[in-house]
Order: sequence, then structure tokens, then C-alpha cells
Amino acid sequence: MALAASLPETIRLDIGDPAFDSPEHVVWAANDAASTGRTHYTPSAGIPELRSRLADKILARNGYRTTPDRVIVSQGASQGLFTALTATTEPGDEVLLPNPAWPNYLMMSQLLRIRPRTYQLTRRTDFLPTVDQLASLVSPHTRVLLINSPSNPTGTLIDAARMQKIVDFAEQHDLWIVSDECYDEIVFDDSFISPATLNTARVISAYSFSKTYAMTGWRIGYLTAPETISGAIAKCQESLLACVSEPTQWAALAALTGPQDQVRLMRETYRSRCAAALDALRDSPLLPTEPRGAFYIWLDISATGLSDHDFTLRLLKEHGVAVAPGNAFGTAGAGFVRLSLTAADADVAEGVRRIVRFAAETLT
Ligand SMILES: Cc1ncc(COP(=O)(O)O)c(C=O)c1O
Repeated sequence: MALAASLPETIRLDIGDPAFDSPEHVVWAANDAASTGRTHYTPSAGIPELRSRLADKILARNGYRTTPDRVIVSQGASQGLFTALTATTEPGDEVLLPNPAWPNYLMMSQLLRIRPRTYQLTRRTDFLPTVDQLASLVSPHTRVLLINSPSNPTGTLIDAARMQKIVDFAEQHDLWIVSDECYDEIVFDDSFISPATLNTARVISAYSFSKTYAMTGWRIGYLTAPETISGAIAKCQESLLACVSEPTQWAALAALTGPQDQVRLMRETYRSRCAAALDALRDSPLLPTEPRGAFYIWLDISATGLSDHDFTLRLLKEHGVAVAPGNAFGTAGAGFVRLSLTAADADVAEGVRRIVRFAAETLT
């Protein structure tokens, strides 16, 4: 990323930050809050108005019932996930994490001194978790099973049948499920399911405004948790940050209650960029995984004979395109790169053209 940033003409397909601006009414709501004195500490779990609207959103979109007191507004899904892990584990406990995955899960585990056991998402299992594999990793020290659907980096979705098996597995081994659903509004078919619809008593779910509303820099997300743990999570949050910035919370409320056409527009844009990129990759030796959610394409580059590290560096230096090397997402990412579809249409199209050209060159 540092090298890409130092080369000004680079087409950036490496980062998951939407190029869209945050909706205008969201910006105005923050302005309004800041200029009318709503600039104070709030309850650590968030302002009641927002928590109440979030409970409505959870029912409408995610299909399960929660109450405002079980919603905790966090500084992005990032801090929400960290706090969820803080509240559910002690140093030395084990957590089951996906591999490849958003790298921060591993970093959080290291900070919390908990031991990651990673389950592999490979082509053999359609890049999805299997209960057989989870069973081979679970131990009496395991406290948490972390799942991420839609997945960053693979774009896969865990369907209802598989989710039921995963939830049953967690029940059988008395595990918390920490479910990272921060791409819940960016899905391309109707097979998305929140595990809390199957078992609200052991699932802590994390959500984000970052991707849904192009609000990455505002730093706001939220958790829903069973009442047995939601109070402990709010206390952990109090010690960590007191509360999320008040104007940002009012901005998030405006995002939720205002027009949702921008959310639909962004989803459709990601869908069409994705279709165009897959089309362009079809005749190349690279094997893309067709994403069913999020805004990434997970690309198998093993036919080129290059490591993901070398592929990424050469693509950047020789063709001016930045992608993320697979091993940044864990050991199971070796031999893959991740393309992000968050750049403008023309940049994604040109970036993919150059990737295809580069892949062809490596074969000659
Ligand atoms: C899977 C996943 N979870 C969480 C996050 C962090 O989201 P937030 O900006 O809400 O902290 C990201 C960001 O890229 C992500 O990809």
C-alpha cells in the first residue's frame, strides 16, 4: 500500500474503501448536531434514538428481534469486534478464525493474548467453513467461533443450511458465535442469513455504516448481543472509548432514517462492476471466485507460477495496478490476490484489462 501510494498514477484495486462520497443528508446531520450543541458524552452504548432505530433495522434487514438495550453503538465494526472478543474471552482462551480473513481478527487476538486456531477456506469447500474442520480444531479452551459472511476477501456467503450446522456446532461446544456482518447490505442474491435468526442466545453480531453508506472515515458501527453479555460489552466499551462521537451518532441516525436510494445505487454499481470484471477475466488463466456479496474478487493466480507477493509487486511496478496479495489475509491466501471493486468503473475496467495482460505475459 505504501509503494502504491508513492506512485501517483497507480490504479488502486487494493483497498476496501468506497470511492463514493457519504450521502449529503448524513453530512448535514453531523453539521447540525455539531452546531446545535450535540457535542457531548453520550451513554457508552450510544444515544437511545439511534439504538432504537438500529433495533428496527435488525428486524427489517437481518430478520431477528433485538431490543435497543442489546444494541451497542461502536467505533466501526472494528472496535465492536474487539470489544466483543474482550467481553467473551480471557488471555489464553482459543478462538476459531477464518483463513483467509480480514487480517484484523488475528491482530485483535494477539492484542488480547487469545490463541487463534484458524479454519481454512479453500476451493475444495467453495471457500466456506465446514463443521468437520471446526470439529478438528475445537478444544475445551475454545470460547469463540468467528464467522464472516459475506466474506472479505472471498465474497462468499454462508447459506441457511450450512449456517444451521455451524450454529448447532457452537451450541454443542458451548461457544459464542461472533458474526461479522459488516457487508450485510452488499449482497447479490437472497441467500444471506444472519446466524442470530437461528439462535439469538449465543450470537454477537457486528455491523458497520462504513460500507453500506460509504462512511468509512466516520468510524461508526454497532453490535447486537444477547442480554447475558450486552451489559458486559457496554462496560468494556466504556473503559475503551467512553462513547462514539456524538455528531457521528446523529449522522448515523440520519443515514438510517433518510433515503436509501444511494445504498441501492452503490450495491447495483458493485454488482455491475463485478459482472464486467468477471467477464473480462473469463478467458484468462486466472480463476476468479464469483462473489455473492461484499465488493471483492478473490483471484487464483497460481497458473502464472508467481507467488502472490511477486505477482502483486510486478503488477504494481510494471503495469501500475495495485491489488492486495493473498497472504495478507492469512496463510491460506498464498497463490491468490484480492481485487477491490471500490474504485471508479473506468479504473476497475482498465485495472482488470492490465491484470489480464500481465497474466498472459507470465505464461509466454
Ligand atoms: C470483514 C470486515 N470486518 C470489519 C471491517 C471494519 O469495518 P469498520 O470500518 O466498520 O470498522 C472491515 C473493513 O474492511 C472488514 O472487511
